[in-house]
Amino acid sequence: MGSEKGARREMSVSAIRNGTVIDHIQNEATFKVAEILRLAQEQHTVLVGMNLPSGKVGKKGIIKIESRELTPQEVNKIALIAPQATLNIIQDYEVAEKRSVELPERVEGIVRCFNPSCITNRQAVSTCFDVIASDPVGLRCVYCERVMTGPDIILK
Ligand code: CTP
Ligand code: ZN
Repeated sequence: MGSEKGARREMSVSAIRNGTVIDHIQNEATFKVAEILRLAQEQHTVLVGMNLPSGKVGKKGIIKIESRELTPQEVNKIALIAPQATLNIIQDYEVAEKRSVELPERVEGIVRCFNPSCITNRQAVSTCFDVIASDPVGLRCVYCERVMTGPDIILK
C-alpha cells in the first residue's frame, strides 16, 4: 500500500474551494480566533489545524472556512490577538488574494478596559484605545490611560 514520497508537499489541512484561509496564526491564539469568528455556529465547512510547523513562528495554527468572507471588524479583532496572521481569499481552489492582518491606529468598542474603575466599565461609554505597540500588541485606554498587553486584552 502506497505511502508515496511525492506526498511530502501535500497540505496538512485539506484545500478549500471558495472561502477564507487564516494562516500563520500564533499557535496559542488559534482557538481565540475560532471564538472571535464564532465558528461553533458556522454552517459551512471549517477546518482547523494546530501545532503545524512554521518557519517563522515555530508552530502555527491555521483556520479554513468555506464560503465565508471576514468583516473588517473581524479582521481587526484577529489582528489584536494574532498580529502575524495572513488572510488568503480562495476562489475556485486558487489563492485570489493574500494579505496580512493590519492593526488599526485606534481600536473602538471591541476591547474591554482592564481597569475596573475606568469610566467605560462604570457608565455607558464605549471603549477606545490607542494602539501603541504591535507585537506583542499594546493598547492604551484614551480615558484612563491604562496600558494593556497580551493576555490583559479581553475582547468584548
Ligand atoms: N489553501 C487552501 N485551499 C486552496 C488553496 C490554498 O486551503 N485551494 C491554503 C494553503 O493551505 C495555505 C494558504 O491557503 O495555507 C495559502 O496558500 P499558498 O499561498 O498557496 O501557500 P504558501 O505559499 O505556503 O503561503 P504563504 O507564502 O503565505 O506561507
Ligand atoms: Zn480605561
